[in-house]
This record gives sequence, structure tokens and C-alpha cells, in this order.
Amino acid sequence: MLKGRSLIDPSDFTREEFREIFDLAHEIIKNPEKFSKSCEGKILATLFYEPSTRTRFSFEAAMLRLGGQIIGFSEPNSSSVSKGESISDTIKTIECYADIAVMRHPKEGAPKVASQSVSFPVINAGDGGHQHPTQTLTDILTMERLKGNIENKVYGFCGDLKFGRTVHSLIKFLSNYEGVRFILISPEELRVPEYVREEIMKKKNVPFVEVEKMEPYLGEIDFLYMTRVQRERFFNEEDYIRLKDRFILDAEKMSFASPETYILHPLPRVNEISVEVDIDPRAQYFQQAKNGMFVRMALILKLLGIY
Ligand code: CP
Repeated sequence: MLKGRSLIDPSDFTREEFREIFDLAHEIIKNPEKFSKSCEGKILATLFYEPSTRTRFSFEAAMLRLGGQIIGFSEPNSSSVSKGESISDTIKTIECYADIAVMRHPKEGAPKVASQSVSFPVINAGDGGHQHPTQTLTDILTMERLKGNIENKVYGFCGDLKFGRTVHSLIKFLSNYEGVRFILISPEELRVPEYVREEIMKKKNVPFVEVEKMEPYLGEIDFLYMTRVQRERFFNEEDYIRLKDRFILDAEKMSFASPETYILHPLPRVNEISVEVDIDPRAQYFQQAKNGMFVRMALILKLLGIY
């Protein structure tokens, strides 16, 4: 039963509960009209303490397409946060006005603290360099639509695997599935954090390699998950400049990939995928962004107990 629950981390729901969300998302894609009044009278609040395009707009579009309404801020200085109000007081106040809330925050754990202060559903829309579980829902739905299932696949992750919360959430989620294998492509300084290596991949016996070149592996990868080197997470601008252009996927590199290697990216991109790759049918990152809206529609319906 997902009604009233919060989603903060990919381990919050069981495989069966995630299955319910994906099945509903596939149904929404087939017949969106059927759901167009499902959330009439309901309000979604979006509390974004960090910039966003896809996550915020897709949540807002999701609620509007379900017939509900939205309130929120994308600039915390326009709210009483700028006067020093705590996360806990802010979310308790929002609970007075809305039925469900989505929060993005630069501090790891902030959405969890918020969810523990209230009894309505709170969704983590990204907390610092930690987790981004609804991006994972977006990624998995996209993979299911491209290859039918996510088991027995080779996943390549490339770029900033240290600070990339989308990578951490996706690895955590996929590690529960049979036959998955990871190829982790990054400079040594941007490898996955220790807890991802030890507490997730090694604990769950997921085979993985950590490498510094993508070309030798492109032919065996089912999904290549590209990521941006995130300037905002670096303490030192020199390190960012040194590492930012290390991996650029272009048409030449795509020639090493198999015809069935799909390219995903949570976006935004800077230059890690050349725009010339966008017309390749294996480039699926804009479809992925669109799928994010459908899976968030399903999540809202489940957490509100409407479906
Ligand atoms: N993928 C993602 O989280 O994008 P935004 O930062 O634009 O929300």
C-alpha cells in the first residue's frame, strides 16, 4: 500500500511496490485521457531550494495533466526560508495547504528530515550529491520501454560518478535485479563513493569494473548512462576545469557502440554528449525526460491512494 508514504530513497519501496508504479505509468502512456481528472481537488507543492528544469516542470505538468493544481517556489529567497525558517517548520506549514510535496535541497538528508515532520507524502527530488529516486523511476521506465525489462543487462555509467546523485540512486535500484553488470567509466577522482561500492555493489554481489576509457566497452553495453561533471559540487574550480572535458560522447565514439546500445542522460548536459549524437536513434535522453512526466503522474496517483 503506497497511500500516504514518502519516497526519499530507492530502498523505501519494495520491488512489488515499484512494479505497481511502473505498470500504472505504462497504462497512463497508453491512455492519458483516462487520468485527466483523477486529481481534481488535490494540490501538489513544489519546494525547490536548488535549480531544476525537468524535475520541477515534469512534476508540475504531471499534476496539471491529472487535473490537480500546483503551488510552490523555485527560488527559496521568495519564501520565509530567507528569514531563517527551518525545513521542519516550512514543510509543516505546506502540509496545511497541500496534499503532497516535492522537495529538492542542496543538503543531503533534508527531504528526509522534512518527511519525518509531517504525515503527508514528501518526495525527494534530489538531495545534494546523495539520491534522486524519481530520476531513477524515469530511467527505469525508459529502459523498460526500450528493452522490455531491466534484468540481465550491462549498464555503463560515465562521467561524474562521485557527486552524481542520479547514478547513486540508479545503481542502488538496479543492484536488486538479477544478472545486472556495471561498467563504471570515470577519472579516478570522480569514482563512485565508498558506500556505493562497499554497501551496495559488493554487498549485493553485483559484478562491476571501474575504468577510465569508454571505447573498449561500448560494444557490450546495453544502456550507457552519461552524466555531467557538476561544477556546483566542486570545492575547487581548478579540479572542475581539469576534469570537465574528460569524456565526450561524439558520433565517432558512437561507431564503437552496438546498434542496441541506448544512450541515456538525466540532463542537463553541458558538452559531454555532442549535439551531433542527438539524431542517432540510440540517443534516448529527450524521450527519457518525457517519460519522467508519466512516471511522476503514476507516483502521485499511488501516493495519494487514487489508484
Ligand atoms: N534530471 C534532472 O534532475 O534535471 P533537472 O535538474 O533539470 O531537474
